Formats: sequence, structure tokens, C-alpha cells
Amino acid sequence: MQQAIAILDSGVGGLTVVKEVMRQLPQEKIIYFGDTARAPYGPRNAEEVKLFTTQIVEYLIHFNPKMIVIACNTATAVALEHIRTLVSVPVIGVITPGARAAIKTTRSGKVGVIGTEGTIRSGAYEKALRMISPQLEIESLACPDLVTIVENGIFSGDRAHNIVERSLQPLVDCPIDCLILGCTHYPFLIDEISDVMGPNVALISSAEETAREISTVLYHNNALASSNSEPVHHFFCSGEPVIFKKITEAWLKDHIYGKPVVWQVP
Ligand code: SIN
Repeated sequence: MQQAIAILDSGVGGLTVVKEVMRQLPQEKIIYFGDTARAPYGPRNAEEVKLFTTQIVEYLIHFNPKMIVIACNTATAVALEHIRTLVSVPVIGVITPGARAAIKTTRSGKVGVIGTEGTIRSGAYEKALRMISPQLEIESLACPDLVTIVENGIFSGDRAHNIVERSLQPLVDCPIDCLILGCTHYPFLIDEISDVMGPNVALISSAEETAREISTVLYHNNALASSNSEPVHHFFCSGEPVIFKKITEAWLKDHIYGKPVVWQVP
């Protein structure tokens, strides 16, 4: 049986990474776990997020995946190194790929980062950015309200716009030329964020770069799926499945429409 890439998040945010993996590596089978019953992770303390991430990985490992992707910035910030000590398959997070993408994009060396309270408090982006490029000027901002609206399926309209505008206010007049969406939920709101930040600020989603890293690691491990295999993706959520399924179908659209998909509650 084809070995899957296991991708996890606190909720629906990791689907932004799933979409990129489906686009770049359409032959790969994906097992996705959204911990919707316990989202958001952002306001939780680091020990709790580490525990939840460990529990999900212990569950997913029974499916014998060939790789684990922590598609949640908050969990990557506090649990990536710990999870790497627990399993023998490669474990990839989203922070280093996001930082790399921003460094490739910025011209002025002035970069903004938005994320959950947990991610911003951890300083993980500053560390990842400065490790590659120590001279960068970095403006970080926690935007706690954005995850909640995304988990409720609100991506546009007046409510989304007002919340995005209020959350980003402290960054609007900063002289940054790129903004890292340091939470995998934020790309759902990309039109609203772009509207508020204006055309001179490039928005960086780590999803694309993370999918590239997945591809590189699988290639080096000689573990890419053969091109003639037909993947059957599995989606798990720990909470209410109706809204999770609705958001997943709307976001992944043609990538899963008419294809065999398994929906499960663990
Ligand atoms: C959250 O659960 O608060 C957001 C997940 C993330 O940080 O990507």
C-alpha cells in the first residue's frame, strides 16, 4: 500500500499546505489531521501545544507515514524538535520554509511577521530569519482573532475585513516590503490582508516553500510516489465534522472533487 505524507494542524489552516502539496506532488497520498476540537493553539501554553502535537503524531504514526509535516506554526515553534526525537521518519515544520521565502523576497531588508500569540512569543521567526540573514529588521505582531474567523469559515466580507484591518493596524505604516503570514490559517484571508497592507507589501505564505521542501526531502530519500499511483486522501478532524468538511471541500476544490476521499473522526 502507498505510504502517505501525514500533515497535521490545530484545525483547517494546514489545508493551505495540503493544497500546495496536491498541486506540486499530485501523486502523493495525504493523511490530514485537524485538531478542530482543541483549536486554536495560539493562546495555549507551550507545554500544552507540545502535548497535543505529540498525541496527534502518536495517532498518525499508526498509519505508517513516510513523513510528518507539522503544518501549524504554533506547534512548529514549540514541538518540532521534540517530535523529531520521537519518530524515525523525516519531520518538517513551516517556519524555516516561510523564513527562507521572505529572505528571497525582501529587497529593503525590512520584514513583517504576523502569527498567533504562541508563535510570536516563541520568537521562532526572528531566530529562523536572523540565522540566515542577521541584518534584517523585523516587525512582529500577534493577530489572535484571525484563526477564530477562519475556523468558522469566514474568509471575506465586512466582518472578515474589519477584523483583519483592526488586527493589522500597528503594521500598516511600518516600512516593510514583505509580510510573513506566520500562521497557516492566514492564507484563507489573503485577499483581505492584501487589501489592508496594500500593493507594496508582498505576502509570504510558507505553504509553497514547505511543499518544495517536502518534495526535496522525499526525492533525496528516494521516497517520491510513483507517478501511476492513484492516491486516496484521508481527512480527520477531532471536532465537529460538518464545517470541517465544508471548508476542506471549498478550499481544495478540484484537487479532491470527484476523487476518492476518506473522511474520518478518530
Ligand atoms: C492556531 O491554532 O492558533 C493557529 C495555528 C498556527 O499557528 O498555524
